[in-house]
Amino acid sequence: MFERPRGTNDWGPEDMAKRRFVERAFVQLAESFGFREVSTPMFESLELFEAKSGPAIVNELYAFQDRGGRKIALRPEFTASILRFYVSDLRSLPKPIKVYSTGPAFRYEEPQRGRYREFYQLNAEIIGGSTLASDAEAIALAIGTMRAIGLKQVQARIGHIGMLRAFLPFAPADQAIVLHALDKKNLEMLDAELARLGRSDLAAPLKQLIGLSGDASILKEAAAILGGAGEGAFDYLHRLSEQLYHYGIPTSDYAFDMGVVRGLDYYTGMVFEIDSPNLGAEKQVGGGGAYTLAEIFGGEPTPQTGFALGLDRLVMAAEAERVLPPFVPLDAYVIPIGDSMRAEAIEVLSSLRAAGLRADADLIGRSPTKNLDYANAIRARYAVLVGEKEAKGGSVAVRDMTSGVQREVSLETLVAFLRAS
Ligand code: HAM
Repeated sequence: MFERPRGTNDWGPEDMAKRRFVERAFVQLAESFGFREVSTPMFESLELFEAKSGPAIVNELYAFQDRGGRKIALRPEFTASILRFYVSDLRSLPKPIKVYSTGPAFRYEEPQRGRYREFYQLNAEIIGGSTLASDAEAIALAIGTMRAIGLKQVQARIGHIGMLRAFLPFAPADQAIVLHALDKKNLEMLDAELARLGRSDLAAPLKQLIGLSGDASILKEAAAILGGAGEGAFDYLHRLSEQLYHYGIPTSDYAFDMGVVRGLDYYTGMVFEIDSPNLGAEKQVGGGGAYTLAEIFGGEPTPQTGFALGLDRLVMAAEAERVLPPFVPLDAYVIPIGDSMRAEAIEVLSSLRAAGLRADADLIGRSPTKNLDYANAIRARYAVLVGEKEAKGGSVAVRDMTSGVQREVSLETLVAFLRAS
């Protein structure tokens, strides 16, 4: 017996049906918003992530040397790869470029419920749109996806890291350390770092600031704490809120929260996170914001904004709220009555499959009684019994597996009968 690597999962058929349902909700909505799918490698050169993803991610990378001695990392997220792709190949596409991707990402984390080493993200990026419009569009797609899944409990928190950065008069590396302490709400680390940088005076206003969360009125309070820093950010968030209203996103779906700092280093403007309150410790189902990676990778400055939702957590939220669609059973299980009817049974089976019905038949050579037991066990809607006498008359016996009622149905009307009932 081999064990799965720590922090990974196997997903059975029932799980996969749920996962695909959630993924489809995102893909369909993203397509309806005009996003198009792109795909990038599951591993990249280590440098790509070291360039700007920040300590939180870099310490969690699955990194190794390949046989050619190259330093490689499994992707911990999609954004860096997509912006690398944008700078090298996609720049000539008409702007804005709106792309989405789905797939696994890898982080060497301490596994627990909802936190895995291999997990699945639903990711969207907008490159080259105006900042405000793109930020609103990204939040609308993220919250819209949760609504499309059927989730009722959506708690987004919207902040502005540009404003915090403007308040921290430090070199980028030091700023990143302070922001990391704020992200982790590690106040001891915050005090120590500010002392090291000779700016302990910033500790009190920063602590006050990251505690601010609520409706638009907190933006005024934040402005009072910050003075001139990040001017315009508050007005910006007001206007964002107005845009969200026109998208049909009520203010009850989100709060402004000056404590949203994000664990990745590349954010420069609006940042947001979305929680599903039912999930306990790992309740954050998504996050994103405005950032500047293209510039770091050698491209021209252009607005970039995006987000990723954690598929594993969305499924858990959908399970908790009981909004997942019921099991979809097989339409028909085709049973030959006797070995001599096997060829006819395969033909009936093929005609049902060709018509787009979900149909299956015995692969073991069971008796009709055992086959009926099996059809029952797999919860098939109907058993289609192919007997010699009926087949000669161009018909089959169809048994409703729920009621047990059996009737003769002609082969010409079989598809219509199974579809209608
Ligand atoms: P992130 O907040 O690091 O952002 O991840 C987004 C979501 O992925 C999280 O909210 C969570 O639901 C899920 N997730 C992260 N780590 C794990 C894990 N170990 N196990 C299960 N789920 C996890 C990003 O990755 C950014 N790239 C988002 C973005 C796109 N920003 C701009 N564009």
